[in-house]
Amino acid sequence: MPRIRVLRRELLEDGIPQRVEVPGQAILVVSLDGEVHAVSDTCPHNGASLSDGLVRDGCVTCPSHLWRFRLSDGARQGQEQVRLAVHSVEITDDGWVEVDVPSPAAPRSMREILLAHARGEMVD
Ligand code: FES
Repeated sequence: MPRIRVLRRELLEDGIPQRVEVPGQAILVVSLDGEVHAVSDTCPHNGASLSDGLVRDGCVTCPSHLWRFRLSDGARQGQEQVRLAVHSVEITDDGWVEVDVPSPAAPRSMREILLAHARGEMVD
């Protein structure tokens, strides 16, 4: 899994989400109480950018339909099987935020697409 340098640590204000683009996806990076989290920036409901949402109490709230996701594990509150991808983060000695980014996902099977649709997730 490639690790990608995304931004300088000093550019993160506590509780203010930042959207970063990496090949094939967008990632939300946020500092909470000094700990840096990185999750998928794309809401699994209908694709809104979560970096436009509000971060509070360890969660990000989607600005479109108010689904809330824990930043620690990506789980949607009240529907834990719906999750954001969580990326491990490392802060380098010289002050960069680096995130692990998986290679682009393989296409989903029809069964996976139907199950995702039944869960109310965005189906592309
Ligand atoms: S697009 Fe995020 S809750 Fe609907």
